[in-house]
Amino acid sequence: MNEEQRMQAGLATEDAPKTTEKDYSKYFESVYSAPSLKDAKKRGKEEVEYHDNFQIDQRFKGMGNGRKFYIRTYGCQMNEHDTEVIAGIFMALGYESTDTVKDADVILLNTCAIRENAENKVFGELGHLKALKRERPDLLIGVCGCMSQEESVVNKILKTYDQVDMIFGTHNIHRLPHILHEAYMSKEMVIEVWSKEGDVIEDLPKVRHGKIKAWVNIMYGCDKFCTYCIVPYTRGKERSRRPDDIIQEVRQLAAEGYKEITLLGQNVNAYGKDFEDITYRLGDLMDDLRLIDIPRIRFTTSHPRDFDDHLIEVLAKGGNLVDHIHLPVQSGSSDMLKIMARKYTREHYLNLVDKIRTAIPNASLTTDIIVGFPNETDEQFEETMSLYREVGFDMAFTYIYSPREGTPAAKMIDNVPMEVKKERLQRLNKLVNDMSAEAMKPYQGQVVKVLVEGESKRNPDVLAGYTEKSKLVNFKAPRSVIGEIVEVRITEAKTWSLDGEYIGVAKEEKVMA
Ligand code: SAH
Ligand code: SF4
Ligand code: F3S
Repeated sequence: MNEEQRMQAGLATEDAPKTTEKDYSKYFESVYSAPSLKDAKKRGKEEVEYHDNFQIDQRFKGMGNGRKFYIRTYGCQMNEHDTEVIAGIFMALGYESTDTVKDADVILLNTCAIRENAENKVFGELGHLKALKRERPDLLIGVCGCMSQEESVVNKILKTYDQVDMIFGTHNIHRLPHILHEAYMSKEMVIEVWSKEGDVIEDLPKVRHGKIKAWVNIMYGCDKFCTYCIVPYTRGKERSRRPDDIIQEVRQLAAEGYKEITLLGQNVNAYGKDFEDITYRLGDLMDDLRLIDIPRIRFTTSHPRDFDDHLIEVLAKGGNLVDHIHLPVQSGSSDMLKIMARKYTREHYLNLVDKIRTAIPNASLTTDIIVGFPNETDEQFEETMSLYREVGFDMAFTYIYSPREGTPAAKMIDNVPMEVKKERLQRLNKLVNDMSAEAMKPYQGQVVKVLVEGESKRNPDVLAGYTEKSKLVNFKAPRSVIGEIVEVRITEAKTWSLDGEYIGVAKEEKVMA
């Protein structure tokens, strides 16, 4: 890559150019690039490019001096973590963060496109911001995240939300300094959304939320193209970070005192599939990471199709690899799974659960379920209910199917009335609640290990944290144990949480070698 290409890509150049503002305009001619779902669908053979050593270009340093930024995040952990990177870039530019919209000089909405109601929330929020922009025309309002990857959203914003100053995509986060600069200089809405991207940018600055738990990306994108899902279009092709970069990041977090790491990817079981020079998959990564002195390591989200035996074998070694697996099933009907293009059957899923339970007898399993997929029959829905009982999930996120423009399912004719979908969701949720309460009962009187995160949201006199199996525990204890792993005796098991009595800080947990 030559200097000019590095500059175009938003990467630090060898030597920051010393020309005047005006001379940079040529680099900004490319700043208007709109998304295309058609391009986003393509999966090319071209190699993933890895860019190390991201640095803020000298000419942008100090851009944020005396200015404050505010980011509102919607959607999944991936988006939450992107917000940490965006905040890192803002801070590196000299901005300060604020929790108050009114104090902000730049407001960003980091959006989610997974269901229609997620998008509606964002449009509602943009509506509210209009008045603020009218009061303070120098305020910058930006939209980023998954919604900005959708053509229809960008067109709608262009047409009806002229309070928005900039839109940038999930592949353009590292370009934020350029985009901000352009937004300050230009009267037009700045749009930079790359649809077909497959690069991995390392060494981006991050401002992590808290000092106890941290997210670490292991891969980006998704190639599964489940027929209902927008993610493969908004996040690009599957590409894995190099093992050394991940291991280094986790070591660093361990050294900084973090207690729990969650490895992130849309489909973490596909980790390493794209490496051409090495054979190294999620099982290998977990086997290396478990040697790092950090108490808990989790990952999300798993896809049942690529969940291989080696990974199960490694997870069974326990230690700091937690025995909670989130394994989205979506439906218990093989026919539904087929039209969803999940590429596994009910039997395959049950067989996988068996294998996991044989190797890790105490494993807690949670899942995601969609009800009311086009033409789902009562019988097919009953198969979801029976699978839920058969597996004995601890918890589930349940959703009514939401058509996403551009996906194959959105074109399917649907004969299931909304009333029926809602009724199915209610029945499923009742089962989910009942089974969660069942899963909680055995904890009564038991001693559990809790990573203390802080005050309970409901009562500041009570502390709250999670067990390895992700059960919320509330108890009274001195605030000095926040950030520690403590022992708590459970006095009351509720449907979604456990109450208990504090015993003391857990003895040093030995990481297995
Ligand atoms: N990569 C993850 C899922 C990410 S999206 C996986 O495959 O497991 C999180 C959940 O949102 C999905 O598991 C699915 O249950 C739900 N979801 C995705 N698209 C949806 C849609 N169009 N309508 C309703 N729910 C959807
Ligand atoms: Fe969406 Fe399927 Fe990819 Fe998950 S695996 S992100 S549900 S396409
Ligand atoms: Fe939403 Fe994008 Fe995550 S669509 S769920 S924010 S990957």
